[in-house]
Amino acid sequence: MAKVKTFYQCQACGYVSAKWLGKCPDCGEWNTLVEEKKEVRQGRNSSRAAREPQPLNTIVSGKEKRTTTGIKELDRVLGGGVVAGSVILVGGDPGIGKSTVLIQALSGLSKKYESSLYVSGEESPEQIKLRAERLSIDSGKILLLAETSLETIIDTASRLEPGAIVIDSIQTMYTEEILSAPGSVSQVRECAARLMFFAKKSGIPVFIVGHVTKEGAIAGPRVLEHIVDTVLYFEGDRGRPYRILRTVKNRFGSTNEIGVFEMTDAGLSEIENPSELFLSERPHNVSGSTVAASMEGTRPLMVEIQALVSPTTFGMPRRTSIGVDFNRVNLLTAVLEKKAGLHLGGMDIFINIVGGLKIIEPAIDLGIIATIASSLRDIPIDPKIFMFGEIGLSGEIRAVAYAEQRIKEASKIGFKKALMSRTNSERLKESFGLEITGAGNVEEALENIGI
Ligand code: TYD
Ligand code: MG
Repeated sequence: MAKVKTFYQCQACGYVSAKWLGKCPDCGEWNTLVEEKKEVRQGRNSSRAAREPQPLNTIVSGKEKRTTTGIKELDRVLGGGVVAGSVILVGGDPGIGKSTVLIQALSGLSKKYESSLYVSGEESPEQIKLRAERLSIDSGKILLLAETSLETIIDTASRLEPGAIVIDSIQTMYTEEILSAPGSVSQVRECAARLMFFAKKSGIPVFIVGHVTKEGAIAGPRVLEHIVDTVLYFEGDRGRPYRILRTVKNRFGSTNEIGVFEMTDAGLSEIENPSELFLSERPHNVSGSTVAASMEGTRPLMVEIQALVSPTTFGMPRRTSIGVDFNRVNLLTAVLEKKAGLHLGGMDIFINIVGGLKIIEPAIDLGIIATIASSLRDIPIDPKIFMFGEIGLSGEIRAVAYAEQRIKEASKIGFKKALMSRTNSERLKESFGLEITGAGNVEEALENIGI
């Protein structure tokens, strides 16, 4: 007889405790421990036969088989298409467009396969049909299954052998093997592990939808990241139509790739040239705005940085940043003050990356510094200039990688001048038709743009 063991598991990080606790000792979250149950089988498994490991050089490698989804931006983040037998987790806030992009992907894939399977534990087939109508998808090859039992899903999939499967969402699925409620850490993990096993055995790619929740009340995709092959996150403001699909992990391609989409009334449409889009509404001859060339994975992306510097009305100056690291902005402000002699002590500083983008790359440092100085002195920066460079604590401008790609992208969309670190400018083999300026430190750079 199997015995049922009760334990308490943190829904945010997976920590297991024998007793209930108010605060998780591992991740420090409150009220995240939930009672879960597990069957413990008596007796140990009989010993298994030992296997012979193979020397590395005798293994024959084949190129992985990829199928394109027909959505270029999605293929890009996947590393060039869906790999047979891979498990792809698509995470994101509720309502951001996960179901939409996946049904569009199935529609693309169904051109290549006999059939594909869309399993929904959240919506009824009628609701999915309504969405498909809106997206003008009318494929008899997409099979719908409203089901939450993982055993049933796997049985059905084994019988149908579809070209691809979408599980929407993992939080609604349950396996009978685990006694905990659907959405709990153990259920989510076990279901994902079973799907992974199924995908590897059958060679059918499986997309898993996972909601990200802040409270940690329902286990989020974070606890699954190590199980699956590829993790994609959907980002973007609900108030804005742009959506960014970002690769966080990819066993079959590079990470940090992004795909850019726009949510329209006919679903998600791809944006092939995001730089143009992010710069389309740029004001000209206004102080506190400039363009920085950043890299997202292998893709150069031109972004507009805006700064507003105004005298503080209350005692403490406010520093706010949207789209860039707050501490980084504080650090750059201090560098400006100390090394370029700008008086920012009694000033509120607001920094914004236009278009809801989040940039973590230090190559936009130079752009941030230039916009702050431009706003403080109320001098506009030439709209034909763009810049990139990392700033060090002694005010020096440091070289960054991929200078040529950045310059090429800028030249393509009509920029005329480039400002970068001296090292970068000296290493360039070509000027791509641009006027290139290298600066050694912050003061030189500001002088160069006339501030
Ligand atoms: P959905 O894919 O259902 O989100 P998720 O699966 O991530 O929860 O997308 C829901 C939002 O997208 C919803 O607010 C409506 C909007 N939307 C459009 O604007 N246009 C469309 O064509 C579709 C299908 C959805
Ligand atoms: Mg959905």
